[in-house]
Amino acid sequence: MSKKIKIEAEFEELAWEELTVENQQLMMRARKVSEKAYAPYSDFHVGAAVRLESGEILQSSNQENVSFPVGVCAERLVLGYAGANFPDLAVKEIAIVARRKGDEIWAGVSPCGLCRQTINEVEMRFNQPIIILIQNPDGSVLRFQGIQTLLPFKFDDLNA
Ligand code: THU
Repeated sequence: MSKKIKIEAEFEELAWEELTVENQQLMMRARKVSEKAYAPYSDFHVGAAVRLESGEILQSSNQENVSFPVGVCAERLVLGYAGANFPDLAVKEIAIVARRKGDEIWAGVSPCGLCRQTINEVEMRFNQPIIILIQNPDGSVLRFQGIQTLLPFKFDDLNA
């Protein structure tokens, strides 16, 4: 007999003042590093910042390539750097922002599928959810308590 199964996604939309000071700090770092994007093909400048459990913040912008698929998103670059250089420190939060070259306002952005799967891997690695903060064009910020709501029914077990 067929079954219908529903997946619910819960997240928050917060005004800047409603964020924690740590959330705000991380968003500011993501904003700043987005200015360093190498995105001559899309003109879409992305910044991602992560807070490690030590409190240290790391950040990266997106880095494109004339062979388009070779380009790497800001999120995967910063998570790769965190894993490569701080293999024992869990990632607690990630902030993501984007802006089109020349624009004043922030662009709408949401991590791509590859980056979602990467965030999932880091959650599995340290066995804890990562708070995900996303800048909205209207100035508000979306906050997700872990990748589950952004990547339901994900692949996370080779032996299931
Ligand atoms: N991009 C990111 O860096 N992160 C995202 O969450 C969305 C997309 C980059 C990839 C590419 O360099 C450009 O934005 C346009 O897709």
